[in-house]
This record gives sequence, C-alpha cells and structure tokens, in this order.
Amino acid sequence: MKRASSQSGKSTSAQAASAIRAEERHLMNTYKRPPVLFTRGKGCYLYDSTGRAYLDFLGGIAVNALGHAHPRVVAAIRREASRAIHISNLYHNPYQGPLAAKLAKWSGLDRVFFTNSGTEAIEGAMKLARLHARKAAGSAQHPPHKFLALENSFHGRTFGAVSITSTAKYREPFAPLVPGVEFVRFNDLHDLAVKFDSSVCAIIVETVQGEGGIHRVSEAFYKLARQLATRYGAALIADEIQCGLGRTGRPFAYQKFATAPDLLPDIVTVAKPIAGGLPLGAFLAREEFAQAFSPGIHGTTFGGGPLVCAVALEVLSIIEDEKLMENACERGEEICVGLAEIALRYDPIREIRGEGLMIGVELAHDGAPAVDAALAERLLINCTHDRTLRLLPALNITPRHVAEFLGKMERALIKSLPRPQLAHPPGISPAKSQNVVLPSVVSTPGHRALAAAAHAEKG
Ligand SMILES: Cc1ncc(COP(=O)(O)O)c(C=O)c1O
Repeated sequence: MKRASSQSGKSTSAQAASAIRAEERHLMNTYKRPPVLFTRGKGCYLYDSTGRAYLDFLGGIAVNALGHAHPRVVAAIRREASRAIHISNLYHNPYQGPLAAKLAKWSGLDRVFFTNSGTEAIEGAMKLARLHARKAAGSAQHPPHKFLALENSFHGRTFGAVSITSTAKYREPFAPLVPGVEFVRFNDLHDLAVKFDSSVCAIIVETVQGEGGIHRVSEAFYKLARQLATRYGAALIADEIQCGLGRTGRPFAYQKFATAPDLLPDIVTVAKPIAGGLPLGAFLAREEFAQAFSPGIHGTTFGGGPLVCAVALEVLSIIEDEKLMENACERGEEICVGLAEIALRYDPIREIRGEGLMIGVELAHDGAPAVDAALAERLLINCTHDRTLRLLPALNITPRHVAEFLGKMERALIKSLPRPQLAHPPGISPAKSQNVVLPSVVSTPGHRALAAAAHAEKG
C-alpha cells in the first residue's frame, strides 16, 4: 500500500514526518525549514503532503518563472529524457548552439559558456575578466587583477563568488577569501570614481539587487561604471541571475540603461529561471572578452547538456509566446498598487520597491514572523536582509492570483505585526510620520493617486 501511494505521488502525514526526520538526521545543517513537505506543484501553486494548496509567490527564489509543471516544459523534458540527457562538452549537441544564439539575441552580447548554477557562472565570469585583462596587459608585470563589487551584493557561495559578496555573515566564516576585492558604496558615484583605477579588471553589478533587499542601481551609477570600465579596459559584469530573463519586464534588467551598444555590459551571468527549474546557468560575453578563452582553459562536465538546453530554449520561447514580460509589468503594477493600499492602513510597511515581478516590501521590524504568518495563510514568500519581504512569483500569474495574494498578505501582516495598528484610526492623527516609497516604474493614474494619498496621510 505504501509503495502504491508513493508511486501515485500521494504521500501520507506519516511519510512526510519520516522524510523530515531523515533530513534532520542526515542533511547538513544549512537551512531552517518549516515542517511542511511539498510533493507537487501546478501553475502558481505548490501542494503539501496532505494535498493543501499554497500560493507560490517565491517561485523557488526566482527559478519557477513559468510556475510548476508548465505543459510545454513537461513535454520538452519527456521528449529529451528519452533521447539524450547528457553527451559531454567534448561533442556537439543539437541545442547549445541555438540556445546560445537566442541568449545572444536577447542580450546584445556575442558568445556563451553554459554552467550548472549561478555561482559557477560567476566564477567563470571572474576568470574570463581576469584572463582578458592579463592578455590585454601583454608583458606588463602587474596586469589588472582587482574586482570591484557593490555593498549589499550577493553573487553566490563558491569562493570567488562569496569573495565579491559583501554580506559579512556569508564571507567572514570562510576567510581568507580570494584577494583583490574592494566594495563600492551602493549608488555612490564618488566612491566608484575613487576606487576605479588601472588595477581593476572588472566591476560586477546586480542591476536590481535581490538578496540585498531589492535595490535598484541608479542610471548614473550604471553609466559611470560603464564609462570607467571602458576607460580602464576592465569588464563591466552584469549579474542577472536573479533579475534577468524577463523578471523586470525586460529580457535583462540592464537594458533599462543600456540603450545603445556602447552601454552594454561586457559579461552577463544568468541562471535561476533559464531551464524551468533544471540546473543551468551561463555567462555571456562580448566578442572582445570572449576571445580571451581558448580550448582547454575553462570547462565543465554537466553544463549545457542537451536536455537542459532544449528545455531552456522552450522556456525562453514560452516567455516570448505568452508575452510574459508584458504580464510581469502589468501584474507587478497591480501588486504594488494593492500593497500601497495595504500600506495606507498599516504603518509598519516602510517601502515598496522593485520592478516587474521582483518586489520588496520593507517593514519597520523583523520580517520572519510575516513569512511564518503567510505560510499559515498558505502563501509562500520569503524575507531577505531581515526586514524585506521578497516577492518573486511566476511571470505568468493572473489578476486572480494577485487578488488572492493581496488578501493573504494583508491577513498575514495583521497576524504577525508586533502591535498591529491602523495608520490613521478614525479621528486620531498618526503618532509618527512615515514615507511609503513606491517603485517609480509603477506609474498608472491609480497608482499615482494612491501614492499621493499615502504620502499625504502618512507624512
Ligand atoms: C544575483 C545572484 N547571483 C548569484 C547567485 C548564485 O546562484 P546559485 O545559487 O545558482 O549558485 C544568486 C542566487 O541567489 C543571485 O541571486
């Protein structure tokens, strides 16, 4: 019976308890997980072992851009699984070339190297930047080697990537890290100009910082980074692992600023959503930088196998066919308008920021209780940088999902707030003034009215 039930995909509470016990006993202690076992997903919902549905607004941390079990993704996996899952990078496969061509078209860059994860893409990007600088320096004794990264950045967990990640708790336990890294204050033009010199081989930027709490790099900062990188022959690396591939309503977040070819980054990293949840990443480069590589100098066993590349091609086609970048803008706007309404009623929302379907809600207090309360409402979100609730839903959510989210979010906030309070109880003026800062990308008349109301009533 047990065997039959697990084969049919159903699992009992006892099976869930036993799976969780086995994790507790045998997994390394790196994640704190709630006592829920998810056994399947469909569209924007995950289902636990008792069959209860949860609205998924975390999307596997920006991975499940098409939700769960999209029929075209499932069909591509089935088709390719019975052909060739892995061939090895020693041989051609039918999908790497077409996928590289598609990424080149989306990005404006020229060449691609496929990896298994975001952090591996970052490592490759760092190696390519160093190698390019070394080759360009010719016989110079001290070729440019330094990496500039931003405060509040997150680029991954391997040694190179964690070395350019600014958060102390991720870095310090593993010191000494890769030497030659300096951090620039976020959006600080002066600090950038002072720290950029001829020893720099690359500056790495998340156009919208994800783990750092959904913060957007300013146009002036991006353009100065571009200008200085060009002046010193260094690489401008755009880490689009979380913000890229449609999430902000554009193929790549940097395209907001890179409106001409000479404003493009030199190297771009992608991963998370690219293969619908299968592990695949990539770094892309302009021809001049890509030329630094030659056969044998860099490699990977798994990266870019035929199955994952076929699925990634399908994912990118679905994003185009279903007009999901447009949908990301529209639904993102609806979410921000709804959150602005909630913010009018509840003081602890300090700021709502983001672009498209990459949205952060900064609270005046620790966000963990709100995440727990949301789970109890069967809504999946997470909290980053202690106080920022992060929303990264699938790009194909509908207005119905947005309405369901807003209802659940408001209930979760009420339940979780230390002392829930109306922003302006009838007849009583607010005790303290606050500004709810709303994303500038959202600019409908309705939104403007709400934003104005929020400022008028709270300020
Ligand atoms: C911007 C950014 N870069 C790099 C990474 C690392 O990617 P991965 O976890 O696939 O190694 C992440 C993961 O969250 C990320 O958000």
